[in-house]
Amino acid sequence: MPFDVNSLEHHWMPFSGNRDFKTNPRLVVKSEGMYCWDYKGGQLIDGSSGLFCTPAGHGRREIAEAVYKQMIENDYTPHFQLGHPGSFELASRVARILPDPLNHVFFVNSGSESVETALKIVMAYHRANGQSQRLRFVSRERAYHGVNMGGVSLAGMVKNRETFPVTLPNVVTMRHTHTPEQSFTKGQPATGAEIAEDLTRICETYGGSTIAAVFVEPIAGSTGTLVPPQGYLQRLREICDEHGILLVFDEVITGFGRTGKAFASQSYGVTPDIITMAKALTNGAIPMGAVAVKDEIYDTVTNASPENAIEFFHGYTYSAHPAACAAGIATQKIYEEEGLFDRAADMSAYFIDAVWSLKDHPLVADLRAYGMMAGVELHHDGVPGRRGTQMQKDMFWNGLHVKFTGDNAILAPAFVAERSHIDEIIDKFLKTLDQHK
Ligand SMILES: Cc1ncc(COP(=O)(O)O)c(C=O)c1O
Repeated sequence: MPFDVNSLEHHWMPFSGNRDFKTNPRLVVKSEGMYCWDYKGGQLIDGSSGLFCTPAGHGRREIAEAVYKQMIENDYTPHFQLGHPGSFELASRVARILPDPLNHVFFVNSGSESVETALKIVMAYHRANGQSQRLRFVSRERAYHGVNMGGVSLAGMVKNRETFPVTLPNVVTMRHTHTPEQSFTKGQPATGAEIAEDLTRICETYGGSTIAAVFVEPIAGSTGTLVPPQGYLQRLREICDEHGILLVFDEVITGFGRTGKAFASQSYGVTPDIITMAKALTNGAIPMGAVAVKDEIYDTVTNASPENAIEFFHGYTYSAHPAACAAGIATQKIYEEEGLFDRAADMSAYFIDAVWSLKDHPLVADLRAYGMMAGVELHHDGVPGRRGTQMQKDMFWNGLHVKFTGDNAILAPAFVAERSHIDEIIDKFLKTLDQHK
């Protein structure tokens, strides 16, 4: 497919080296199943489900047809004091697979918006509950909670913060969970649960009754798949309960089967009060996110207002957009009918063993994995992040898409992957590693 290089100038691309990209663009023009094609006709296997969005594989006709049908029937209905049936159906479907008692779902348009919305739900809940002194939030080093100002305030990645120093006040950061002795652990590390006591320290320093919520990704995804140590999330839950603090799991990556169950909460047997999600909610086809809350939060916030009043002064023009709901419903049907979360659980051991074949490569500094998600950390080349950035580009031209953050590659194939696809991903990964030796 031809294109005019000059025509690339106008789009200011997100999280990209714009100048570098535009000299040799990596343009994808088609995607189907496990594969994408670039504009020169080269075929790529998708090793990261795009950005962890497409567990059912690319180009699912059921989703496209559902969206088309919806757009012809009813292209847009606002959700402020009005509704359309799709949002209620999708919310029920999501509630069915959520851990109990998280039974209420608020729709947004991205993972970042889900985090902002969760922050506001937490504030609204404590206010309705007579606990407005809870003004402090706790997050964690190496966290990624999206790019809006609330999420940036919670973030623990320096590059996402240093340009934007004006953030929310009253955010305290816990230690991240990765330690050297956990290196090359498949699944949950046996050591490190005591890192949860950092939350106790924060409660003792600031007073537990001043803390509104603790935000964590069950697996820190964007910083390279930091799997929680055994017992760590359980201990966070206990400490939150002791102090009346809400626990929020940001499952924007881990939601919808990535850990082998619908949510990581279920894989780890820890139920938070709030779960944020996005990405795989619609198999990446239409932007959408959501926040699920437990019954008590919904009831407390809604019952605190007079009967006919608006209870929560928050929402987006495109919250629960009909096209996104149609994509979400079609996606959830695929997950259910094809048993894709079980398929992820069944494929996990093969996938992780395949990743471990990279273990002795001289450029590999660490491997971490859980479910259908793995982090391959590379030794940096003297300048942190430079090798990862180059490697991601070289992989593209070697026929493989992998998401890198700095020197961490994050592998997360679709759940429809066959063993042969996993082998192809690892072979191409290794080929590019060898070119960099
Ligand atoms: C844990 C987590 N939270 C939030 C986000 C932000 O999602 P979005 O890019 O859809 O705004 C991401 C994106 O990767 C994420 O991994």
